[in-house]
Amino acid sequence: LEVDWSPESARKEGYPHFMLKEIHEQPRVIGDTIFGFSKDYEAAASTLASSGNIFITAAGTSFHASLYFSLLTARLAGKKVIPFISSEYESYANLANKEDVLVAVSQSGETIDTLMALRSFKERGCKIISLTNVIGSVISRESHLPVYMKAGPEIGVAATKTFTTQLTALTWLSSLVSFYTGKIGRDELSEIKGRIMKLPDLATRTISRSEGWARRLSQVISSRHSVYYLGRGLGLPIALEGALKLKEIAYVHAEGYPAGESKHGPIALVEPGFPVVFVSIEKNLERKLVGNIEEMKARGAFTIGIFGEQSELVSRVDERIIVPSSDELLLPVLETIPLQLLAYYAAVAKGYDPDKPRNLAKTVTVE
Ligand code: G6P
Repeated sequence: LEVDWSPESARKEGYPHFMLKEIHEQPRVIGDTIFGFSKDYEAAASTLASSGNIFITAAGTSFHASLYFSLLTARLAGKKVIPFISSEYESYANLANKEDVLVAVSQSGETIDTLMALRSFKERGCKIISLTNVIGSVISRESHLPVYMKAGPEIGVAATKTFTTQLTALTWLSSLVSFYTGKIGRDELSEIKGRIMKLPDLATRTISRSEGWARRLSQVISSRHSVYYLGRGLGLPIALEGALKLKEIAYVHAEGYPAGESKHGPIALVEPGFPVVFVSIEKNLERKLVGNIEEMKARGAFTIGIFGEQSELVSRVDERIIVPSSDELLLPVLETIPLQLLAYYAAVAKGYDPDKPRNLAKTVTVE
């Protein structure tokens, strides 16, 4: 009998990897993040509501959360938010004026590209709001209005709990912007808060529902060379994140794409058995997603669906997971969880260490 008493193993608290531990921590840290919705969020939202242009920037997984914020804020507050990848900031900084705001999203608060984007917008007189997970990080220190998620330290290189806490934080921020722009009243705002507060419990149920499913499907996914993740609307950033996770830790080529755009190129590669994951969040986009599923099936694709309750797509795909809610504000967080587990088990099935993917760093501090 060999017992591993190393400090690292103790910190994993019985889980084989930090990544799995951190996936399982999500209900708790989402709760902590909700509990930490402070006056700073309100200050940030009222600044956003009265600003000129709003830009949001980030790298990697944090960019997917940023894209989600842009889509949600258009929907909830009717406000335009321009998302850009932080290493591309030179192309956007010219557009910035004194009355504009830049939101910098970075779990570590140290990513150099995001910091450079922040500095260049700040020099142009923009207000800087940041969302980070680390109090005192350089990005939070250099911003005018730092707000925080409360995910706790994340050891796994591939972001998991920091992404779902970003989504939770940004859902609240977007709701507050909607309130400060006068789109919704106080009652509706507290109703939304009540819905968000259901996330920890729903996340717990999603994890237990997804484990066996992900383990089983990972056997298929891990033997393939390429997988597509398709979504529409709010489903797109989640599809992009699902693809990134698989690529990062299981080294399977994966592309996230807007479902409607997949016929302009990606579909050329689809042949019998090619896995295509469909992420559905918005009910009113499902009719169009049906068409995209059918297009893929006609080429023999192996179709997998990530759905909420009451989705009409359930019988359209070969394999599915249904998360325990139909609330479109909560589905992005919940539908992320099976995608994380799928990537995790695919990496494990291939014998890789998901905590330490090759060539990747937790925090990138070179441009
Ligand atoms: C690296 C990590 C990713 C992360 C990205 C942005 O590439 O491997 O997991 O999403 O940096 O990091 P940040 O700390 O700015 O969110």
